[in-house]
Amino acid sequence: RCVLPPLSKCRWSDIISTVEFNHTGELLATGDKGGRVVIFQREPESKNEPYSQGEYNVYSTFQSHEPEFDYLKSLEIEEKINKIKWLPQQNAAHSLLSTNDKTIKLWKITERDKRPEGYNLKDEEGKLKDLSTVTSLQVPVLKPMDLMVEVTPRRIFANGHTYHVNSISVNSDCETYMSADDLRINLWHLAITDRSFNIVDIKPANMEDLTEVITASEFHPHHCNLFVYSSSKGSLRLCDMRASALCDKHSKLFEEPEDPSNRSFFSEIISSVSDVKFSHSGRYMLTRDYLTVKVWDLNMETKPIETYQVHDYLRSKLCSLYENDCIFDKFECAWNGSDSVIMTGAYNNFFRMFDRNTKRDVTLEASRESSKPRAILKPRRVCVGGKRRKDDINVDSLDFTKKILHTAWHPTENIIAIAATNNLYIFQDKVNSEMH
Ligand SMILES: *[C@@H]1O[C@H](CO)[C@@H](O)[C@H](O)[C@H]1NC(C)=O
Ligand SMILES: *[C@@H]1O[C@H](CO)[C@@H](O)[C@H](O)[C@H]1NC(C)=O
Ligand SMILES: *[C@@H]1O[C@H](CO)[C@@H](O)[C@H](O)[C@H]1NC(C)=O
Repeated sequence: RCVLPPLSKCRWSDIISTVEFNHTGELLATGDKGGRVVIFQREPESKNEPYSQGEYNVYSTFQSHEPEFDYLKSLEIEEKINKIKWLPQQNAAHSLLSTNDKTIKLWKITERDKRPEGYNLKDEEGKLKDLSTVTSLQVPVLKPMDLMVEVTPRRIFANGHTYHVNSISVNSDCETYMSADDLRINLWHLAITDRSFNIVDIKPANMEDLTEVITASEFHPHHCNLFVYSSSKGSLRLCDMRASALCDKHSKLFEEPEDPSNRSFFSEIISSVSDVKFSHSGRYMLTRDYLTVKVWDLNMETKPIETYQVHDYLRSKLCSLYENDCIFDKFECAWNGSDSVIMTGAYNNFFRMFDRNTKRDVTLEASRESSKPRAILKPRRVCVGGKRRKDDINVDSLDFTKKILHTAWHPTENIIAIAATNNLYIFQDKVNSEMH
């Protein structure tokens, strides 16, 4: 394990483990290692305070998962939220799916600003009245009250996974979703909890033959029959559910042959894909591995069309990153709303942005300093020995306990959400003008 900050500063359970905007970006949900979900809502623009526009404030907090014990396997099941996905809004209520390693839950979030009063058989606290005191019948009425956000569990999708769930993805048909674990992918109907269809199974007959695991999976944003999954060997498989019920035969395999001159003991570990995301257009896929982010064209399987170095200066440090387990960190990646900029995290609370058109890139830092109102994010630079400019940070001074694994980009605006250990940073607008 990479050492975490002292407990006094940050409780383990407060560490943010996922961040997700809803489809219009007005709501933002985070999940943490303690099984909690916090929902933030964007405040409407206020004429008096123009700078408060777009601020996200806490809307609701609830406990989604509790620690459990699997008695059959004598295993503890952590409450940590691995992923959250919003469902497209269909009525006044909002719905989201949250998952830990094993169990997926569907939550309904509703607002209530009225309360019924004047029941015949119970008092205002809900206790049954002494029936002998009830002498006449009254009609209960709805009385206004302060806005209350209610979160209720609607469905629990349990027992679908033997291994750890790493991703969930809602289909564009809005009726089904899939969940992927290390070896299998299941398809669920949102209304049916007691059965799911296994659509990918890579478990070998003999577990000793296991050489590859599924690391992430996502539905195509527009074609409900297509989905992709990534693997620990650095490949992507695009599957078509129309072709067959069990998609073990992928329709396309995206893989880049390894550069033999770069081959080392760590090659396979660092090529493992930690995240895959379709572009909003549906034409491209974005993948993150330990040192790079790559853009793949759905029409070209032989190699990515773009490769960006996230922190190439770590290539010479892989040995110590292996020893402290950091090499297994799973960084996520994100597209901006128009698919022209890519964002992903790094160490030292740094995150990187790559402009696909101008080919410019920038390193930014999530810090208290940069999150002050109206502060402008200053680009940071990491230097490797040699010449050092003012404000540069040496690669040996990077703090590997501060890592930005989870990031999200507002679907239509230049607003980004960055999870840095137990802090959530939301930056707006100015970030891109700062690229160099
Ligand atoms: C996202 O949340 C906002 C704020 O409640 C809501 O108005 C909007 O409909 C939601 N978008 C979707 C697509 O669910
Ligand atoms: C090989 O390593 C060099 C840096 O040492 C890097 O620039 C290059 O992208 C690597 N090649 C591949 C295919 O990863
Ligand atoms: C994506 O980034 C580009 C470049 O900064 C910007 O012009 C565009 O407005 C961004 N798109 C969205 C939807 O935020």
